[in-house]
Amino acid sequence: MSRPAILFVCLGNICRSPLAEAALRAEADKAGADMLVDSAGTGDWHVGSPPDRRAQQQALRNGIDISGYRGRQVQPGDFRRFTHIFALDADNLRDLRRIRPANGTARLGLLMDMVPGREGTGVVDPYFGSDAGFEVTWDDVTRAARAIMEHLR
Ligand code: 4NP
Repeated sequence: MSRPAILFVCLGNICRSPLAEAALRAEADKAGADMLVDSAGTGDWHVGSPPDRRAQQQALRNGIDISGYRGRQVQPGDFRRFTHIFALDADNLRDLRRIRPANGTARLGLLMDMVPGREGTGVVDPYFGSDAGFEVTWDDVTRAARAIMEHLR
């Protein structure tokens, strides 16, 4: 297989998808796997911004510094540059299908479809909730990251 290139996409690219990126980077490092990992948002409100402070704290609690991540919006070229694009929820997946160019080659899917028992579900947006929501997000994306590593083996 060619080198895996994985893109996570949520709405703002400041809460869920940066945590998914961090979780998969950590799993890939642990496994010594060579892969490209990135994240983006369907929206453009947070382009150039660091992850939400609560997302940064959640990652730090797990020993990962994501303060250097910067928000970006998904681009048409991403559908050729990445081998897999994972949407964090069903709205993100719908938006991705709408903007996918005809020559896109990336496999597109819902992230939690990778996790047995969680098929068809989304990673809940923690942005408007309490800090506890970020714990749930981290749990979800960590399970998904481990499932992706299994899938790629
Ligand atoms: P994310 O969370 O999609 O997980 O990054 C959100 C961040 C910002 C907004 C919505 C969701 N917003 O509306 O600004």
